Amino acid sequence: MLSGKRILLIIAGGIAAYKSLDLIRRLRERGATVRCILTRAGAEFVTPLSVSALSEQTVHGDLFSLTDENEMGHIRLSREADLVVVAPATANIMAKMANGIADDLATTALLATDKIVMAVPAMNVRMWEHAATRANMEILMARGVLFAGPVDGAMACGEFGAGRMLDPLDIVTAIETHFATGAPLSGKRALVTSGPTLEAIDPVRYIANRSSGKQGHAIAAAFARAGAATTLVTGPTMQIDPPGVSVVHIESARAMLEACRNALPAHVAVCAAAVSDWRPETPSDNKIKKNGGGAPALTLVENPDILASLAKTDNARPALVIGFAAETENVAANATAKRLKKGCDWILANDVSTGSGTFGGDENQIHFVTETNIEDWPRMSKEDVAARLVDQIARHFAEQDPA
Ligand code: C5P
Repeated sequence: MLSGKRILLIIAGGIAAYKSLDLIRRLRERGATVRCILTRAGAEFVTPLSVSALSEQTVHGDLFSLTDENEMGHIRLSREADLVVVAPATANIMAKMANGIADDLATTALLATDKIVMAVPAMNVRMWEHAATRANMEILMARGVLFAGPVDGAMACGEFGAGRMLDPLDIVTAIETHFATGAPLSGKRALVTSGPTLEAIDPVRYIANRSSGKQGHAIAAAFARAGAATTLVTGPTMQIDPPGVSVVHIESARAMLEACRNALPAHVAVCAAAVSDWRPETPSDNKIKKNGGGAPALTLVENPDILASLAKTDNARPALVIGFAAETENVAANATAKRLKKGCDWILANDVSTGSGTFGGDENQIHFVTETNIEDWPRMSKEDVAARLVDQIARHFAEQDPA
């Protein structure tokens, strides 16, 4: 799968560096050539001798090494690669990358490279969740750095949570996906909303709707298959989390909006969630009792419109914002008006009138509305709708950005 590919692997200083030794073997087994830069902190965890024995290449570590510079300058090192992989990517090296700091060979090569960089984060859960790391990651993603992982799990520091480095074979899969021709959205970030939202009346009751999440989850899965780094923000559904997708479970519309904002920047956002239009103004702290005094009156207030809000984001607006329009009459005409009202780029309009079987069903019939066109798609499964939409998105980006 990786035959002839040249990988520059930067091993920074974290306990997960031991997994990078296995990564070198796995990449070479698949035909890749692996050159390594071992940072000074990385060399506290694994030895240059192991790295060079496994890669069968000189290990580079020191920016000011005359021998190294004579044999292979740092600029050449950073350019003669098809992909630069930073594994483990510590909080420290991510901060340096985000700020353009070049104070050793690894960070100098990262600043000098004209190749795609994939970061494989590994750090303590608190460091991973820290606002500084989140901000650095946003900057890096906006500049096209690919991210693989991290995952939840037990950590060497004894804590449990997100921040654990992917296992070597999963890193290999991420790298293979990047190189695969079937990954037209590799390097792109996608955000999808799915499912209903629940709006609390009191601690046990809520307002919701019949959305099954099938369509939104199918879209997230199709994005991941196309190689996009995908975040799915979903209300409660019976669907399983799609593989390879980072899933954020929320309940209310307001929580969905916040999770979507946290997932930016993204190149494309698809809002397939059936967001409750209203929520009870002041949910009761205690269960509302039947006390013979008649039914309680609920005052409803309007929820934020997530689609419109993403479409109108001033900074970090996704290049493509796509919504759904569930209509029961005049489907195409109403969808065209909705596209303008929401400020989104495309709308997938579907008929949810009684008897259409769309809500909760396995099939959908779409009228695909863009600025210039309305296309009537035949009735098809929600998986096929997802695949066709993702295909359309990939073609759109390919036209915008011909490689
Ligand atoms: O206004 P309406 O609910 O018909 O619009 C449907 C589209 O808007 C869907 O894409 C849905 O996900 C999105 N939406 C939203 N937030 C709301 C209401 C709808 O994102 N509060």
